[in-house]
Amino acid sequence: MTLWITTSLLMTAPSTASGTFWMPEQASTVANSVDFTFDLITWISYFFFVVIVGPMIFFMVKYRRKTHSPTTEGPTHNTPIEIIWTVIPLLLVIVIFVVGMRGYLNLQEAPEGCYEVSVTAQTWFWTFDHPEYGATQVGELTVPVGKPVRLLMTSNDFLHSLWVPSFRVKMDVIPGRFTSLWFEATKVGDYQLLCTEYCGKDHSKMQAIVHVVPEDEFDARMVKLASEYEDMSIEQLPAYAINRLYNRCQSCHTLDGSESTGPSFVGLWDRVNSGEVGFTSGEILSSLYGEGSEYVIPENYIRTSLLNPQKHIVKSYLGAMPSFQGQLKEKQILAIIEMFKHLDELVDADGTITVNSDGTPR
Ligand code: CUA
Repeated sequence: MTLWITTSLLMTAPSTASGTFWMPEQASTVANSVDFTFDLITWISYFFFVVIVGPMIFFMVKYRRKTHSPTTEGPTHNTPIEIIWTVIPLLLVIVIFVVGMRGYLNLQEAPEGCYEVSVTAQTWFWTFDHPEYGATQVGELTVPVGKPVRLLMTSNDFLHSLWVPSFRVKMDVIPGRFTSLWFEATKVGDYQLLCTEYCGKDHSKMQAIVHVVPEDEFDARMVKLASEYEDMSIEQLPAYAINRLYNRCQSCHTLDGSESTGPSFVGLWDRVNSGEVGFTSGEILSSLYGEGSEYVIPENYIRTSLLNPQKHIVKSYLGAMPSFQGQLKEKQILAIIEMFKHLDELVDADGTITVNSDGTPR
């Protein structure tokens, strides 16, 4: 029984669906070699733990000082033993180096003909651009199975780090430069992607899902994604925005009225429309409305807030919002404005979204 428990805890059998005690499911081509290196080092550690600590405990008991008679002189040195305990670890670290280096080089060198995705990290969400399709995803990344994918990554603000545990890939994402990583997913399914570099208040919410789909489905999905909102009527835009665009806002703006880094979206349209919003500058929004004034109509204030959020900072907030210049098409900005206007039809009192992106109830 004890043996069975020990074995199941320590066994790191390859590619079981649910993963092992130490490792999550293996879902990429490099996962096996990463786990092999990990297992090798782990088993060497188990072995030497037993070999060193076992006799140590045995000798402690056997040779403990039983009487107060004087102790004898111990040996000063033993050349054969010292050579053995130097040469064996030396050979072991050479083996570990070779195995680790091979895996490392494999992770570094992306194969030819990768599908390219450009990744932008921003407090506190991930944006994935598919240049081949002109499609953008936020909070989710769709990739084809059985095809190498290369992520070209940068950050708009702080240090972040992209990690997909099931793929065994992880790389820092740094402002002002590009880093990259590659993987080839081996199984269709959904996998967790997360930020693994502490980047501020909502670091723990900076997650995304990787959808691995069959290659023949991938193309159709991307084409649909790229043009999804273009043919929508204005009535269809709120449901689209709450499902496809709100995930860029959710780390700072709540749907249940509670306080966060930015003002809640609940009641936002009423506040903006009536102009009762006060700014840190002391100005009141309503004074900026009207013919010949800065915004003429309230919709323009929202547009400016998205594209140039530092221009007016709402009173009692810090102005932490990044600019969405170049990230939103005009129709998507319109969709967000429509979302504010119709928010009570899209979410319930707890802030749970109640419609799908095509407008059907959830
Ligand atoms: Cu981004 Cu932690």
